[in-house]
Amino acid sequence: MHHLLEKVYQTNDLTKEEIIYLLENITQADREILYNNALKTKQMYYGNKVYLRGLIEFSNICRQDCLYCGIRVSNAKVERYRLTPEEILACCDQAYKLGYQTFVLQSGEDPWYTDKILVELVQKIKKTYPEVAITLSIGERGVETYQALFACGADRFLMRHETASKELYETLHPTMRFEDRRACLNTLKGIGYQVGAGFMVGLPGQTLANLAEDLGYLMDLRPDMIGIGPFIPHSETPLGMEKCGTLEDTLVMVALTRLLIPGGLIPATTALGTLHPEGRELALKAGANVVMPIITPTSVRKQYALYENKICGDDHPEDCRYCIERRIQSVGFEVDLGRGDSLQFKSGKPK
Ligand code: 5AD
Repeated sequence: MHHLLEKVYQTNDLTKEEIIYLLENITQADREILYNNALKTKQMYYGNKVYLRGLIEFSNICRQDCLYCGIRVSNAKVERYRLTPEEILACCDQAYKLGYQTFVLQSGEDPWYTDKILVELVQKIKKTYPEVAITLSIGERGVETYQALFACGADRFLMRHETASKELYETLHPTMRFEDRRACLNTLKGIGYQVGAGFMVGLPGQTLANLAEDLGYLMDLRPDMIGIGPFIPHSETPLGMEKCGTLEDTLVMVALTRLLIPGGLIPATTALGTLHPEGRELALKAGANVVMPIITPTSVRKQYALYENKICGDDHPEDCRYCIERRIQSVGFEVDLGRGDSLQFKSGKPK
């Protein structure tokens, strides 16, 4: 085991078989070594800084029916909302005043936001805040849409691959196709976006070999950003009675991702903060270097419940901004309010 921990630390590489062996045999003492090595690697690439992104969850209306997700189209119990472009711009204004230099616009797959509406929105944001990076997280769309949004100023795109196992993907996503997801990620990368992939840990039916496949997929795709969070059940979904992913498994995946994609931007996710009160701080100590505080208006926050007991539901954007800053400082890191582009993107040559 020590040989593998040393190998991944020194070479940023492991075979799929080695990853499986590591995941199957890791002890608590090994985990501590792994987290430490991931932290040292993060410090080497990004120093002591943690980047903040303001997250606007602008619509919980979704045409997809993912088995794990609380805002799936079949969940008739969610009260649906959709922010107007004016309301989204007001969120951006507030985000800017709180110091954010990246706005993440996330929603369910909501066709009300046509290309025209989205393009105008991105143009307005870019015109008002030219130095700010815009990240979109709006799901699967056509190539032309992705191109139009990039051409008018969108910088980054988040689309988790969710799981690299075709079989598991197809079980969990009755309205989607495994190949489409991957094609979208490749298209986005080809267009020139900084691209974010990622996956959930502890999905019902997920094996350690599946998690090794997730890491293998990341090593092939070399995304700029990688979001990893535990699966957390939502009672109004078919997986409502299943178990959560664990803190330890999620932290191991965060740390291994840091070692395998050393220049990646890796968030300490809200789902980890929901699973454990110090989940995000522990992720920062295991190699994560981004936090995405929520800036969604408090009036609709609770309705964007992808999973249950999601934290910060009653908070206001300024609460989250400063709560996160305190948490980052509590584990010895500093907030960086810059755009925080990924190193591999800036260097122009994906490695
Ligand atoms: N538990 C944890 N994460 C979830 N997501 C969606 N539903 C859940 C859940 N029940 C994640 C997916 C998606 C991201 C926005 O939230 O990975 O890509």
